[in-house]
Amino acid sequence: MYKIAVIPGDGIGTEVINSGVEVLKALSKVETNLPIEFTEFDWGSDYYRKHGIMMPEEGVEELKNFNSIYFGSAGDPEVPDHITLWGLRLKICQGLDQYANLRPVRLLPGIGSPLKDVDETDIDWAFIRENSEGEYSGIGGRSHKGYSHDTAMDITLFTKQGVERIQRFAFEIARSRPRKLLTLVTKSNAQRHGMVMWDEIFEEISEDYKDVTTDKMLVDAMTTRMVLDPKSIDTVVASNLHADILTDLAAALSGSMGIAPTANLDPDRRHPSMFEPIHGSAFDIMGKGIANPIGSYWSAVMMLENLGELKAAQKLMSAIEKLTSDNKFLPRDLGGQSSTKQVTKAMIDIISGKNH
Ligand code: IPM
Ligand code: MG
Repeated sequence: MYKIAVIPGDGIGTEVINSGVEVLKALSKVETNLPIEFTEFDWGSDYYRKHGIMMPEEGVEELKNFNSIYFGSAGDPEVPDHITLWGLRLKICQGLDQYANLRPVRLLPGIGSPLKDVDETDIDWAFIRENSEGEYSGIGGRSHKGYSHDTAMDITLFTKQGVERIQRFAFEIARSRPRKLLTLVTKSNAQRHGMVMWDEIFEEISEDYKDVTTDKMLVDAMTTRMVLDPKSIDTVVASNLHADILTDLAAALSGSMGIAPTANLDPDRRHPSMFEPIHGSAFDIMGKGIANPIGSYWSAVMMLENLGELKAAQKLMSAIEKLTSDNKFLPRDLGGQSSTKQVTKAMIDIISGKNH
């Protein structure tokens, strides 16, 4: 029995995660031997309004009892973003030391890219985002608030151990992919300490991965390469903030933010990993029933892969590809007309072998 902690969170997070759970239940019905038990947690901004915290103090400990965490989003128009973020998602990622953030990006069949003349073979990337330190270390401070010398500091922290483990993870992913090509993204010309250390460690580690071809890009130049020469890219590793920005661009180039999945992984398997669509809570469309749930399905594929359920993962991914290539039940951000409910039903029909 797989024990999944479900944290729908805020905004459209609840809509897409509920849809994902329904789809996973349908999958578990048709797959032999895929028993899943879902336990839902009401953490997020409503919880914050009631209790003054986004999740209970012992919440991270509680999550250790699960095999995986299926997460929606955190963000609310009434609660400052740094509170929703640090009180829930980052608290979990840091608390469980989920140091590797994996973001696959593909142009799915039937989906159009804003780039001209690209097809499914041109955009097939794996982004690896450092997920535990860097620009998101949370270290810093604010003083003299209210005075003209108000001062604020965010410290970007890179540790040798942190950089080494994420780069090794990236080399492993690159090695597992057919092209075996890894691009290191930094800004080591301007950020002359930490990012230079990234370069040095990369150089060192590459000795252990002679079968992987490597190259290096500065982050600004990487944005142009993604737009102008997408097929030259395969696996990419970058710091927390750089990869955050690049993966929004990547999601848009592959059709929509609504599709993109992510896995917050503890590759050492001390703790459960967490799977979520990357789009966030999207206040502008919340409650309208039109959110695109595909990112949450794809995140569920990553969750199944992480659990070692490769056949079920493949089946779910094929169902997503059938949904997009059929082009009949697509949500609005992909140019369709379907509501979240209609997309959910279409997916369940595909999984259970019903024809339309
Ligand atoms: C992401 C998101 C988050 C991040 C936001 C919601 C805080 O943009 O997962 O990419 O910056 O990490
Ligand atoms: Mg982001």
